[in-house]
Amino acid sequence: MGKTVSGGKVAATAAAKPFLRWAGSKRSVVKKLAENSPPEYSRYLEPFVGSGALYFHLNPSAALISDLNWEVVNLFIQVKHRPIELYERLIAHSRDKETYLAIRKTFGTEEDDLDHAASMLYLNRNCFNGLFRTNKSGKFNVPYAAQRRGSYPACDDLLTCSERLQNTQIEHGDFHTVISANVAKGDFVYLDPPYVKSEGRIFNEYVKGHFNHQDTERLSALLRAIDKAGAKFLLSFIDDEIVDFISAEWGSEKYLVQKNIAGFAANRRKSAEILVKNW
Ligand SMILES: C[S@@+](CC[C@H](N)C(=O)[O-])C[C@H]1O[C@@H](n2cnc3c(N)ncnc32)[C@H](O)[C@@H]1O
Repeated sequence: MGKTVSGGKVAATAAAKPFLRWAGSKRSVVKKLAENSPPEYSRYLEPFVGSGALYFHLNPSAALISDLNWEVVNLFIQVKHRPIELYERLIAHSRDKETYLAIRKTFGTEEDDLDHAASMLYLNRNCFNGLFRTNKSGKFNVPYAAQRRGSYPACDDLLTCSERLQNTQIEHGDFHTVISANVAKGDFVYLDPPYVKSEGRIFNEYVKGHFNHQDTERLSALLRAIDKAGAKFLLSFIDDEIVDFISAEWGSEKYLVQKNIAGFAANRRKSAEILVKNW
C-alpha cells in the first residue's frame, strides 16, 4: 500500500508499478528521492518523466508529467484512458522474433494511437534490456532479446496506473517549454534529465537530438525560473564537472548508485550522482 502525501492529504492506495522498462529509471533510488521531496506541495511536475518511478511512488494528488519522446507520452495517454484495450492489443501479438521484427518495422506508422502504444509496450518488453534507441532516420532499431525480455505488466497493473493518472495532465514537449508555461507557486518540480558528461558518451538514448551540453544552460535558467515562481525543485544528475556551475549556485548532495550499464554484468559498478534542491 502507498500513501498520498501531497496537498496535506494522506490516503492509502494500491501500489502502482511503472509500466515501462527504462534506461535511467530511478526505481532503485526512489526512496532516496522521496526522502528529498517536500512533505507538502500543491502540484507535482515532472518534465523528463520516462517511466515515472518517482511519480508513481509519491502518488501525488495533482500532477503534470511530460517528455520529449512522443512514444512515451502516447503510452501514458493510452494507459490513462484505455488500459484494458491496450492490454488486449499487447497480448494479441505472439512473443517471438518474427513478430517482433514485423512490429518494429511498422512502428510509428500505425493508424491509431492505441495500436502505436501497444507496439511501444510490446517493443519495450521484448527488446534488449528495455532500451529505446533510433537510427538516423528516427526508426527504432533495438534488437530482439531472446533472453533479456521483461515480463508483461498485468492488466490490473495497467488499471492501477490508469487510476493514478486520472488526476494528471500529460504533455508532450521540451522540458523548458512545458515547465516555464506551467509552473506555479506551491508546486514541486522533479527533474531527471538524460546525463551528459564533459567527456565520453553515456549509453542512454531516448529521443532523437535529446539533451546536450547547451541544454545544461537552459536547465540552469529553468531552475531559477522555478525558484522565482515560488515553487520547489529537486534535480538528479550525474556527478560531473559539466554541472558544477549548478551545484555552485544551489549546493548539492552526492550519493552512490549501483549501475548496470547496458545490462551487462561486467559493467556493474557504482557511480556518483548528485541531488540539487532549492529548499
Ligand atoms: C533519465 S530519463 C528519466 C527517467 C525517469 N526519471 C524514470 O524514473 O524513468 C530522461 C528522460 O528525458 C527525456 N528527454 C530527453 N530530452 C528531453 C527534453 N529536451 N525535454 C524533455 N524530455 C527530454 C527522455 O525521453 C527520457 O525519457
